[in-house]
Amino acid sequence: MNFDAILSPPEIDLLPQADLSRTVCIVFDILRATSSIITGLAHGAEAVRPVLTIEEALEEKRRWPDAILGGERHGDRIDGFDIGNSPLEYCRADLKRIITTTTNGTVALRACEGAAEVVAGAFLNMGALEAFLCERQAERVALVCAGTFRDLALEDVLAAGRLLSAFPGARLTDAAETALALYTKYDDDLPGALRRAANGRVLVSRGREADVAWCAQVAVYPLLGIMREGVIAAATPGA
Ligand code: MLT
Repeated sequence: MNFDAILSPPEIDLLPQADLSRTVCIVFDILRATSSIITGLAHGAEAVRPVLTIEEALEEKRRWPDAILGGERHGDRIDGFDIGNSPLEYCRADLKRIITTTTNGTVALRACEGAAEVVAGAFLNMGALEAFLCERQAERVALVCAGTFRDLALEDVLAAGRLLSAFPGARLTDAAETALALYTKYDDDLPGALRRAANGRVLVSRGREADVAWCAQVAVYPLLGIMREGVIAAATPGA
């Protein structure tokens, strides 16, 4: 397997113009979009629709009237939406259909729509991601780090590096090598690394340390979130 890493939002902007037809994209937005999506799927959500704007979310709601509106702007629940983007809000069994829009995570997911597979990744489902890649043996895997606003997000690159550490024999681009090197620096204290990241510091300063701790848990949920035709559903590796 050949691994690449897309480390920041300006690179993500270029993905829709790239040929991703033979690439498996794994999208990490650890604080908090993909962590929340995986948590919701683990609690019974059947379909998660990532959208780019509030207007698109409201339009989708007209198509899916029973769906829950979730997501954030500047980290807070959007006025008129049902829930925000804390993974702790997704620990509910009644969230069957979710429409979500976030600052970076949903943008990164949608930017990968031309890929052979688009998979939502988090520390929370790291074991499932490893099993999926072992089974899939994709020719090319792009680890897409959603970032924060226009900047690289440490926690997303750490997650990419954690996944790479499970494939010691793989061929890595320099960007993927960078992610792996970063992970080996922080691998003994992921919760501490996430608290020190810019996103983590902001969440902690706003009383959301529980979110950061939740998102730092590794291999808690043995499931994948696979996006097909713009909708993310749960899948089990090997099924
Ligand atoms: C993002 O999409 O940038 C993050 O998920 C934002 C957040 O959850 O605060």
